[in-house]
Amino acid sequence: MDTVSSHPNSLEMLLITCLMVEIFMVAYAGNFYQDVDITWGDGRGKILNNGQLLTLSLDKFSGSGFQSRNEYLYGKLDMQLKLVPGNSAGTVTAYYLKSQGSSWDEIDFEFLGNLSGDPYIVHTNVYTKGKGDREQQFYLWFNPTADFHTYTILWNPGHIIFYVDGRPIREFKNLESAGVPYPKNQPMRMYSSIWNADDWATRGGLVKTDWSQAPFTASFRNFNANACIWSNGVSSCSSNSSSSNNPWFSQELDSSGQKVLKWVQKNYMVYNYCKDAKRFPQGLPVECTVTNRK
Ligand SMILES: *[C@@H]1O[C@H](CO)[C@@H](O)[C@H](O)[C@H]1NC(C)=O
Ligand SMILES: *[C@@H]1O[C@H](CO)[C@@H](O)[C@H](O)[C@H]1NC(C)=O
Repeated sequence: MDTVSSHPNSLEMLLITCLMVEIFMVAYAGNFYQDVDITWGDGRGKILNNGQLLTLSLDKFSGSGFQSRNEYLYGKLDMQLKLVPGNSAGTVTAYYLKSQGSSWDEIDFEFLGNLSGDPYIVHTNVYTKGKGDREQQFYLWFNPTADFHTYTILWNPGHIIFYVDGRPIREFKNLESAGVPYPKNQPMRMYSSIWNADDWATRGGLVKTDWSQAPFTASFRNFNANACIWSNGVSSCSSNSSSSNNPWFSQELDSSGQKVLKWVQKNYMVYNYCKDAKRFPQGLPVECTVTNRK
């Protein structure tokens, strides 16, 4: 209280900043007709409500997917998703960034469906130069099928952070100094899709997709890319103006962010490759053992 009343100016500044951020976000709030292409699924992907809503469906014959028109080299990308309701066991809905080629980079959110009332798993992974094996999985603290929630990938030169409704759930730091490759040269596109993965998705593949429940439909809205757009080999952030002005470009977890991350990891983490010593008999990956450094 004291802090607030004795610093009216900083509070005002904060309010003004919030307003400006709000205006900025609104100005950039996406329209799916302009921002993405539905790339597969033969009519199972649909853009609705004048471009404000997109749905992807899966049935026995096919899933569906879309991708962003732009490629990005760093960005903060938000998407609101409402996942397949009811019995979604065996289905996977994905929202991710990926570059091209055999030495690709990739940052993944995958949502593993479940029987009605049983919890979804949020599966995350980070690939650098074509190598992944960095899975971390989480339960959510809400029902992701009842309403839209915001899933964010922050990717800047120092950090990759996964957020759910603004809460950090995972951080992958730039540890190039310790010899861990970091995605920084290859532009990535945003992709999203739904498909059948009942060989592994739900309880490790024990629960199969119940096709009598098809079609399975996930919904998307408010795609927002605060990002450096890649075009003809040049990033829109390499011109002077933009990069340093964007708070996300240097964003990292402050101490309260670190606390939330710890809270999520303590209470909701299902799997962490960094704790899976059996899987890495020659020793855990370097990023798991390097002590925190900035
Ligand atoms: C599905 O529910 C079961 C039982 O609660 C749980 O063990 C599992 O982690 C849940 N999620 C997935 C994707 O299997
Ligand atoms: C970038 O900014 C610096 C310093 O503000 C200036 O000297 C330089 O000319 C600018 N470069 C471009 C390409 O605008």
